Amino acid sequence: MHIGVLYSRIRRDEKLLLGALRERGHKVTKIDVREQRFSLDAPLEAVADVDVVLDRCLATSRSLYATRFLDAYGVPVINSAETAEICADKVKTSLALDGAGVPTPRTDVAFTTDAALESIERFDYPCVLKPVIGSWGRLMAKVESRSAAEAILEHKATLGHYKHKLFYVQEFVEKPGRDLRVMAADGVPIAGMARSSDHWLTNAAKGARTERFEIDDEARELVEKASAAVGGGLLGVDLMETGESYTVHEVNHTVEFKALDDAVEVDIPEQVVDWLETAVEERAGVTPA
Ligand SMILES: Nc1ncnc2c1ncn2[C@@H]1O[C@H](COP(=O)(O)OP(=O)(O)O)[C@@H](O)[C@H]1O
Ligand SMILES: [Mg+2]
Repeated sequence: MHIGVLYSRIRRDEKLLLGALRERGHKVTKIDVREQRFSLDAPLEAVADVDVVLDRCLATSRSLYATRFLDAYGVPVINSAETAEICADKVKTSLALDGAGVPTPRTDVAFTTDAALESIERFDYPCVLKPVIGSWGRLMAKVESRSAAEAILEHKATLGHYKHKLFYVQEFVEKPGRDLRVMAADGVPIAGMARSSDHWLTNAAKGARTERFEIDDEARELVEKASAAVGGGLLGVDLMETGESYTVHEVNHTVEFKALDDAVEVDIPEQVVDWLETAVEERAGVTPA
C-alpha cells in the first residue's frame, strides 16, 4: 500500500513506524504539514495517490484542520477528523465516554470562576482542574484548598488563553500511584503499560516509570467501548484503577508509543502496520500491495 505520513517532527515514534512500513515493502510518502497549503479548490498534491494518510501531527490545531481537509479531498485518514475532534477536547471526550456508558471521572464544566468554585466545593478537596485542550500533563492543577482554588481560577481567568476560560473540574481519583495506558487499534488492545510516579501526574512525558500491564477482561471491554465512543482508530486509552474497577480519563488520538514499545515485549510498530494493512482495506476498499 501507499501510505502518507503527515507529520511536523519525526520523533522516535515516527522513526519506528516509518521503519516498519518500509520493511514490509509499503510505499511511504512523508508529508511535512508545515510545508503544505490546504486549499478549498485543489487537493494536496502530496496525497494524490496515497491509499491512506496517517496523521502524526504534534500540534493539535494542525491535526484537527489537516484531517478535515483530507476528508474534504476524499482521502482516507487515520485517525478520522471526527475522532481527532473528540479526543483533542477533554469536554467532548468526557461526553462521549459517559454517553457510551464508559466509567469516567465525575466532571463539571463551568464558564465563570464563581460557577467553577461551586463545582470545586461540590467535588471537595482535592480535586482537579484541567485545560480542555492539552497533553503531557501540562497545566493540570490538583486543587487542595479553597484559597488555592481561588488563586488558580483567578490566574486562569486573567492570564489564560481563551480555552482556559472554560473550567473543567474533575473529582480526584485515588489511584494507586499509577495509571494505565492501553494502545488499541479499532478497540483491540495491542499492548498496555502502567505508569508509576510519586507525583500525582503519572504521564510518561513527566518521567513516570513504566512497566508492562497485563490487560484483563474488564480493561479490554472498557478499551473497546472507549474506542467505539470516539469513533475508533489507532488510540491510546488512559485508565485509572479505582479499587474495584477502572475509570477512563482520556483517549489520545495521535498516540505516542515509544515508552510502551520499551516497556513491553510486543513489537508495537509491527502491530500497528499489521492493523493498518487491514484498516486500509476496510476504509478504502483497497487491497494492500
Ligand atoms: N481525576 C484524576 N484524579 C487523579 N489523577 C488524575 C486525574 N486525572 C488525571 N490524573 C493524572 O494526571 C495525568 C494526566 O491527566 P490526563 O487527563 O491524561 O491529561 P493529559 O492530556 O495532560 O495527559 C494522568 O495520567 C493521571 O496520572
Ligand atoms: Mg494523558
